[in-house]
Amino acid sequence: MSSPRVSSLGIAGSGIMAAGIAEVALLAGFDVVVRSRSERGAVDLEAQVSKSLGKRVERGKLESPVRDAVLQRLTTTTTLGDLSHCSIVIESVVENNEQKVLLLRELDEVMPAESIIATNTSTLSVSDLALATSRPDRVCGIHFFNPATTMPLVEVIRPVTASQSTIDAALAFVSSCGKDAVLVRDDPGFIVNALLFPYLNNAIKMMERGTASIDDIDTAMKGGCNFPMGPFALLDLVGLDTSLSIIETLHAASDNDADRPAESLVRLVAEGHLGRKTGRGFRTY
Ligand SMILES: NC(=O)c1ccc[n+]([C@@H]2O[C@H](COP(=O)([O-])OP(=O)(O)OC[C@H]3O[C@@H](n4cnc5c(N)ncnc54)[C@H](O)[C@@H]3O)[C@@H](O)[C@H]2O)c1
Repeated sequence: MSSPRVSSLGIAGSGIMAAGIAEVALLAGFDVVVRSRSERGAVDLEAQVSKSLGKRVERGKLESPVRDAVLQRLTTTTTLGDLSHCSIVIESVVENNEQKVLLLRELDEVMPAESIIATNTSTLSVSDLALATSRPDRVCGIHFFNPATTMPLVEVIRPVTASQSTIDAALAFVSSCGKDAVLVRDDPGFIVNALLFPYLNNAIKMMERGTASIDDIDTAMKGGCNFPMGPFALLDLVGLDTSLSIIETLHAASDNDADRPAESLVRLVAEGHLGRKTGRGFRTY
């Protein structure tokens, strides 16, 4: 099947990653349609993209007429069918398999058979998501990193079901967004999260054992490994619900007790403290 050049990108979801991916694609020249479940989510996403573009103008990185023109290419909707003209739709909703399957089935119904449905999942099986649709050959992972606007990497995940033209179209899309793509087999956590989240989980367990404080562990990993931020700052940035879900998926895949999620992560999520996005996680913002 041939892959038409993408001019309109659809995004399902209106959280941190949806806003970042929308901004990246807008700046790369795509028309972007974002579907949020609620009017509130749509308004918040537009405000988030507008604020972020405004910061570029303040820093002299973008002319304000260009910012205005870029924003005109952003449309938000609460109707999934409004994405149907997009040749690629990226879903970026909550990291929960059941919710993603429900959404993918709905997308499958409204999108033309040749369009690609991509998932921004951090760890879930892209093959399982693909098999929930009637077009498993046109489903793949396009996994951006947070913040999407500044992180250069995108993982393109190839489930066993995907056709080569789907993968080629995903790689071409990533490249036209100015990002560096790596192609990864559909293994839990792909490359980055498979290596990163055991480290983050172990940092929490180290704090729980009393080896060092949150601040000292963050300071140590910045100064000792030259990481731009420590593990607790990163967990709060990613979101503790998303982090817990990723660690649970990795734990289920390894079936190794050492990979069990740290207790304080489980507790904070149960209490609704999800990191920066709720104003409190391991730290208060
Ligand atoms: N946060 C990160 O660092 C990061 C990085 C890369 C990929 N991801 C992935 O991106 C996806 C979204 O993560 P995020 O950080 O933007 O989360 P978020 O919490 O900021 O946003 C979640 C979005 O999902 C929507 N949502 C919640 N329940 C839903 C449902 N039942 N049906 C449809 N939509 C629903 C919410 O309204 C919101 O728009 C996840 O799959 C996550 O694993 C996150």
